[in-house]
Amino acid sequence: MRVFDSTADMKRWAWEHRLEGKSIGLVPTMGYLHEGHISLVRRARAENDLVVVSLFVNPTQFGPGEDLERYPRDPEGDERKCAEAGANVLYMPTAAQLYPPGFQTYVEVDKVSRPLCGASRPGHFRGVATIVLKLFSIVQPSAAYFGRKDHQQLQVITTMVRDLDLNIRIVPCETIREKDGLAMSSRNAYLASHERRQAVCLYQALLEARRLFNDGERSAERYLRAMRERVEQEPDARIDYVSLVDPETLEDLQEVQDRAVAALAVKIGSTRLIDNMLLEGRT
Ligand code: PAJ
Repeated sequence: MRVFDSTADMKRWAWEHRLEGKSIGLVPTMGYLHEGHISLVRRARAENDLVVVSLFVNPTQFGPGEDLERYPRDPEGDERKCAEAGANVLYMPTAAQLYPPGFQTYVEVDKVSRPLCGASRPGHFRGVATIVLKLFSIVQPSAAYFGRKDHQQLQVITTMVRDLDLNIRIVPCETIREKDGLAMSSRNAYLASHERRQAVCLYQALLEARRLFNDGERSAERYLRAMRERVEQEPDARIDYVSLVDPETLEDLQEVQDRAVAALAVKIGSTRLIDNMLLEGRT
């Protein structure tokens, strides 16, 4: 596996291989890799000639007072995991290269960036869309892999690709969970052991929603109440949002028909966690 910290080297490698007609699968990450990330790398490995993993803790998607400075890092471990999963390139640029002095161009994906995490993290999705478009330009992938765990991010990227006519296939990948159901996340490392035990309430709230859906419940309010009640059982849990939305537009639903996404963001102590579940095809 090649490791590039130079954007010029990354661009040269990508163009050489695209000229040879090779397909490149890109997995954008912020590092501190876990099985969720690695499942994306494996999927990319299975579907492309070459796989690039990018590792960049992107400052423009963090708000003031968020965890940019203390975001967990393990570059050696990440390198080993990427190599083991069959990546061809690990691209680890510096912020100075990607945002040089004078940088002033941003991508704004309007409506789908506004609700849910967009409401509590202003500017977050502008930072995400901007860095992802830059990575697409640098790496020239034919396909890019994103986790459903970040459902809104996936919708923002899918909308950007459609609206800007990018020739890139966006591949949504299933959420990988711990044994008790907690969605894997680099931020789980922040949780103290008593918080870790309580963090399972996000998944359990989603299971409540799934149960109501399978029972044929239509009233969104009933779903929201059941989910809130489950989260509020935990002493250190504070709800940021609990929502039931249309899977594509992310607009709030009053009535649940055939498809919905139940989504929530909860602070456990000082750690903000998110999770969601697609409700479709009653079982
Ligand atoms: P990061 O949080 O490192 O996540 C990188 C990718 O891994 C995202 O597509 C995310 O949805 C996916 N992922 C995270 N946890 C997952 C899990 N438990 N199961 C499946 N997939 C999971 O998301 C970002 O970084 C950044 O916003 C980024 C897109 C890299 C732009 O900076």
